[in-house]
Amino acid sequence: MRINKFIAQAGIASRRKADELIENGNVKVNGAVMKEPGYDVKEGDKVYVNGRLIDSRDEKIYLLVNKPLNMITTASDDKDRDTVMDLVKDVDARLFPVGRLDYNTTGALIMTNDGDLSYRITHPKHEMGKTYRALVKGVISREKLAKLRNGVDIGGFITSKARVSIIKGNQHSTLVEITIHEGKNRQVRKMFAAVGNPVQTLERVAIGNIRLGRLKQGHYRKLTKEEIESLKNC
Ligand code: URA
Repeated sequence: MRINKFIAQAGIASRRKADELIENGNVKVNGAVMKEPGYDVKEGDKVYVNGRLIDSRDEKIYLLVNKPLNMITTASDDKDRDTVMDLVKDVDARLFPVGRLDYNTTGALIMTNDGDLSYRITHPKHEMGKTYRALVKGVISREKLAKLRNGVDIGGFITSKARVSIIKGNQHSTLVEITIHEGKNRQVRKMFAAVGNPVQTLERVAIGNIRLGRLKQGHYRKLTKEEIESLKNC
């Protein structure tokens, strides 16, 4: 396998970024800097990126994790907060999260060691629906509902059409299910803030047709074959 593909599949970088790493001398094979993007990685080769040995096993693992509150979705944190990596410590593979969830958002997060798939499904052109349950402050009027559905300005960006339905509510708070197809930073919180209903709690309940179901917070399960196919075909 070409070395740029090898690096991408290990989840380190996109192929284009892998080419840059190779060009910049950040990649070593068996101890020597490798600057040929066309180099064919052989059985037993030890490939290092920025001094880190790459996991070369072929077996791809796809997990659905239910992220608890107060946990970050990056591999490490300068403030020493808990990370989702701790939830999959017992899995013998170099997993990483696909996309991100806020520190104070709970719910569905895919973790995998399949870098190619991860880059494909986080690319904006795939527009995979992500469904959230938001408990928001106050009442959502018809006008607000229409705005959320048709597009709101979240600070220089108008959101595209979203599926929004009210599950239940009273005059103090409303539970809303919303499916969006973009992934702007803190998008759901910003959308509700824009219509004057700040989010109190936020849970992602589905990624495409992969649903959290009864998976408990802090737990994970393997994706089914059908779920993996649905990601590959998105
Ligand atoms: N939108 C948000 O505001 N936060 C998340 O974590 C995900 C989507």
